Amino acid sequence: MTNFNLDAFVADLESLRSEVEQTLSKVSDVESLETARVAFLGAKNGRLKAIQKGLSKLGREDKPAGGKQFNAIKKTVESLFSQTSVRMESPSKGAKAIEQIDVTLPGSSIRFGSVHPITQTIRRVSSIMSNLGFEVVDGPEVEDQWHNFEALAIPDEHPARDPLDNFYINVANFDRPVLLRSQTSTVQIRVMEHRKPPLRIVSLGRVYRPDTADATHYPMFHQVEGLLIEPGTTMAHLKSVLRSFASSFLGGDVRVRFRPSFFPFTEPSVEVDMEWNGRWIEMGGAGMVDPAVLASVGYDPNEVCGFAFGLGVERIAARRFGVADIRDFYRNDIRFLEQFHDRGQA
Ligand code: DAH
Repeated sequence: MTNFNLDAFVADLESLRSEVEQTLSKVSDVESLETARVAFLGAKNGRLKAIQKGLSKLGREDKPAGGKQFNAIKKTVESLFSQTSVRMESPSKGAKAIEQIDVTLPGSSIRFGSVHPITQTIRRVSSIMSNLGFEVVDGPEVEDQWHNFEALAIPDEHPARDPLDNFYINVANFDRPVLLRSQTSTVQIRVMEHRKPPLRIVSLGRVYRPDTADATHYPMFHQVEGLLIEPGTTMAHLKSVLRSFASSFLGGDVRVRFRPSFFPFTEPSVEVDMEWNGRWIEMGGAGMVDPAVLASVGYDPNEVCGFAFGLGVERIAARRFGVADIRDFYRNDIRFLEQFHDRGQA
């Protein structure tokens, strides 16, 4: 019989606890919380007090277990009440905090980020070149050796393919290593392989070379690549496109100078200089697309001709923004970057 008594006693405690939970979930103000506290925890007629009286009716051997249960539930119920009372108080604390806000103080300003100067330059160059009728296209940064070298008439023994000058990557199940592209000229090939002339494209993106970083070198940098394939194209067209570009980008009437040079994928080839503040600045390379390159993409070099050019984005950005050390572009120093707010955005 005593067993039944203990079970009944514990069941009473449990049902009290769930009643408290239910009641407290509905309590919405301090008065009803107080009423509930008296009903359940009141020292005279509280429900818990009534159950406690049952403790003395338990058999001797059940008393320790019953007492333990009673104390546990009592603790739980008390903490349910104190949680509820905290919940009730918080909104009023919040209201007090609002009263203390001084509406006459000036607001704190919102910090706006700005577009990175290299991104600004890329957008501006793209927009100028689109106005000149060039379509902006993209190419992969991980390339195969065909697109980075062979199709551009750069043979196996050429020093540009040296492992010390390129980031080669061995890939399982690939016959030959791939590489992080060392130039954006790869995009010329990718476009010509899939399209027929006439073409006017420009591509801006990252290239990679294992150079030690200094004021004018960085192992990752950006290039602008241009390609125009149209009947009757000459070096004069090339020069006038570069001059229009330079004048729009740098402002004013910028002179452009060609110096004879050599690139495997152009014939003839030139270095392109632009005049800036009375000085000639080297901007990149250019030339008429080599017949061997046209043949490698399946064009007939007797019918098709065009020009190509490749310029360094960091170089032209450094000119425009007056930056002496290109490493500053990649230090992520806010004090440097915030100087280029909104300048040169297309
Ligand atoms: N790809 C060359 C380089 O990275 C730059 C270049 C030169 C691109 C002449 C061209 C070009 O399209 O015609 O040094």
